Amino acid sequence: MRDYVMVLGSGMMGSGIGAMSALAGKKTILVDLNEEKTTQGYKRALECIKLRQENGLNTKDEADRAAGLLSTSVDLKQSAEKAFLVIEAIVENLEVKQSVFKELDELLPEDVPICSNTSGLRITDIAAFCKHPERTVTTHFWLPAHLIPLVEVVMGDKTDLELAQKIVSELKTWRKKPVLVRKDLPGQLANRIFQAIIREAVSIVASGLASAEDVDMAISCGMAMRFPEWGPLKHLDAIGLNLGLSVQDTVLPDICADKTANEYLRNLVQQGDLGVTSGKGFYDWTTRNIEKDIEKRDKFIIEAVKITDRIERE
Ligand SMILES: NC(=O)c1ccc[n+]([C@@H]2O[C@H](COP(=O)([O-])OP(=O)(O)OC[C@H]3O[C@@H](n4cnc5c(N)ncnc54)[C@H](O)[C@@H]3O)[C@@H](O)[C@H]2O)c1
Repeated sequence: MRDYVMVLGSGMMGSGIGAMSALAGKKTILVDLNEEKTTQGYKRALECIKLRQENGLNTKDEADRAAGLLSTSVDLKQSAEKAFLVIEAIVENLEVKQSVFKELDELLPEDVPICSNTSGLRITDIAAFCKHPERTVTTHFWLPAHLIPLVEVVMGDKTDLELAQKIVSELKTWRKKPVLVRKDLPGQLANRIFQAIIREAVSIVASGLASAEDVDMAISCGMAMRFPEWGPLKHLDAIGLNLGLSVQDTVLPDICADKTANEYLRNLVQQGDLGVTSGKGFYDWTTRNIEKDIEKRDKFIIEAVKITDRIERE
């Protein structure tokens, strides 16, 4: 009987995805290359479940049930025999993903969807050697997958629309907020917007208009405060499209429209300033603690998810 979600790759993303699948009440099997990896992945998935329960995002009953629904395997073939849905979250390498998708395509009946959590590759290319590319689709969970609600469901050139819609419906039952992306383009949907923000943010620092701290503050304490409830297009409707149009005509000619990364960023990389890993990037990381910042970020996400859940219920 096919009643398992199979998550292939139990690393950073796979463990969070597995946790959400189990919390949705699905039997979930985490598959990886060896037992050391599956054991680590399993432990991480349990930690994700515990963190959600401790922060009131799931009840103790839900968490206990989820822990009982999680299992692991290093046998891809055996696991594939039980799967009604497969989500691949292995290394971000086209050739490796292509070969795994080819194998899965041969193992699985053609009505079993095969999803990839790829952040940057095209599902069309990943499924290039599949006999049934129509059942392949990107499901791009955002890090941390057990907290961020967004999942981008990206259709490849050959993905069946009904299949993609079925995956959207499935992910809604996981308490995710899936968005359907109808074309397989670089940056999917959200990263296209994020990259445009990064381009302008770097350009502002490079031109001396403001410091990195102030750029981040302007986003975090300004627009980001309303974003959980109110995206830029709803904002335009609220202020009036005529006003929005006039602001665009005034500001757009003056903001960055570069087609390549800013020289300022390129120079930082060339001089070895890589951010947290080297101790210096836009910030001085020798005096800051990234672990603390991750903790603060996750606390904020947890509260934001709670509030949006509550507002939705009202
Ligand atoms: N980390 C992020 O911020 C992030 C966010 C969104 C999407 N992604 C994407 O998710 C995928 C996984 O990323 P990650 O950060 O979890 O990586 P990771 O390195 O933490 O985990 C990858 C896991 O896949 C396993 N693996 C590799 N080849 C395998 C194979 N052939 N069969 C089974 N298991 C295999 C590895 O052993 C490892 O445990 C990538 O495609 C990545 O681009 C990552």
